[in-house]
Amino acid sequence: MPPARPTYDLVIAANRLPVDKVVADDGGVEWRRSPGGLVTAMESVMRNQAGAWVGWAGDSGEAPEPFDEGGIHLHPVPLSADEVRDYYEGFSNDTLWPIYHDVIVPATFHREWWSAYQAVNQRFAEAVAEVAAEGATVWVQDYQLQLVPALVRRLRPDVRIGWFDHIPFPPVELFAQLPWRAQLLEGLLGADFLGFQRQADARNFVRACRQLLGAATKRDRVTVEGSRRQVRAAAIPISVDFQGLEELAKRPDVRERAREIRASLGDPEVLMLGVDRLDYTKGIRHRLKAYEELLSERRIGPPEVTLVQVATPSRERVDAYRQLRSEIEQTVGRINGDLGRIGAPAVHYLHHSYPREEMAALFQAADVMLVTPLRDGMNLVAKEYVTCRHDLGGALVLSEFTGAWHELHQAFACNPHDIEGLKQAILRAINTPAKDKQRIMRALRRRVADHDVQRWASRYLAALAAAPEQPTPEPRGRPTPHAEETPLMPGPTDAAARA
Ligand code: ADP
Ligand code: F6P
Repeated sequence: MPPARPTYDLVIAANRLPVDKVVADDGGVEWRRSPGGLVTAMESVMRNQAGAWVGWAGDSGEAPEPFDEGGIHLHPVPLSADEVRDYYEGFSNDTLWPIYHDVIVPATFHREWWSAYQAVNQRFAEAVAEVAAEGATVWVQDYQLQLVPALVRRLRPDVRIGWFDHIPFPPVELFAQLPWRAQLLEGLLGADFLGFQRQADARNFVRACRQLLGAATKRDRVTVEGSRRQVRAAAIPISVDFQGLEELAKRPDVRERAREIRASLGDPEVLMLGVDRLDYTKGIRHRLKAYEELLSERRIGPPEVTLVQVATPSRERVDAYRQLRSEIEQTVGRINGDLGRIGAPAVHYLHHSYPREEMAALFQAADVMLVTPLRDGMNLVAKEYVTCRHDLGGALVLSEFTGAWHELHQAFACNPHDIEGLKQAILRAINTPAKDKQRIMRALRRRVADHDVQRWASRYLAALAAAPEQPTPEPRGRPTPHAEETPLMPGPTDAAARA
């Protein structure tokens, strides 16, 4: 008989493992850090816990054997090439993703994609059931695995089940378009506790249960039909590993690299930076339009001002992403052709992934960070930028349509749809006196330092343990309001006026 596999008291299930398997042309296998905010956040949480991580290794075909890495037990789930197409690229990223992000591009509905989504969710649930110890805590992540909570409950009624939504949860008017809306809600209601980035997301979920399932709801609780079980839905916004990232940013080699980056760009007076997965939700087109207009109107220009845009490769086989890439690259080419000079391009465009050290150096090098999504669950890049600015330098231009905006009100706010307003926000971020910018940066950093990813995880796990009751209030930290207590669109959006 083969030896019994080890089991774990904490199991997380996420579409991706923290590392992706990459097979080179010569057949050699390499493991690379997976893209995205979920991995950044969960990896730093799991490093401090003895737990298992169930997820896809990023490649089609047979899954590698389970292995341990950085103190985490990684349990790969296989996806066939058809499942990568139908479950991941199709249902997750061409059906759910657009619906959950305000239908910025139209959503596509295919019944075969839904079948693949069901089959893959079932496989994840079985893998979780295999590695979870008796009475374990199971923490399911994100929109790719919304059926997993109910499937795990069926297989393992002894475990406690939580789910966290890293992206927005749509208003019921959009969610209702999904032909499988009831099954998705019922899948989620298998959990004991559901966590969201904003209170508005939690409210959207509760409302969807009431209107689409006819479920009884009271404030943040939904009663599951046919049982007396109650599920609590609340906002617990995710964050970054403030201490770890700040330490990295303070390293002499990273600071030297920041200086080197500026020098290699010709030591501009103002270095602007954008860092985004190449995704239509990130507002890269709107940002480039505002920048191009500012250059054409000669209000700013190279070599004094320049923009570095890091556009991280993402979901490259999904049509909307392909189109976006070609549009962005054409626009960058046009801006450089029309408005750049020899030795002084207006946009430095980079389509790569970088190590964490290089990202920290880029953040430190940038005078103005442009975070302009049309819709974003959180946007960890905004929080990483302020974490790296221990020198209190820099200025953050931040879209009101990010989860981060609900915590970082002092930033230079923008509505990316309002190109004129976006241009003004950029100019304010450049021209506000350094002393005022330092005051703003100090306030932003305080918020992120007080609400780091470790606190997020402990708040989440406490809420899960206490659900459906509210956990007892946290003993630590000063009484800064949590995001769930802040208004949806706080007052005037002119950060400089409020500073
Ligand atoms: P999303 O989860 O939608 O990608 P977030 O802003 O929340 O957006 O998280 C993105 C994460 O990916 C951040 O931790 C950021 O530092 C990292 N990241 C983005 N682009 C790159 C890149 N080119 N190289 C390395 N890390 C990147
Ligand atoms: O949070 C949004 C999210 O989809 C995460 O689930 C994921 O880590 C990240 O964006 C990157 O996307 P993908 O895994 O599709 O490359």
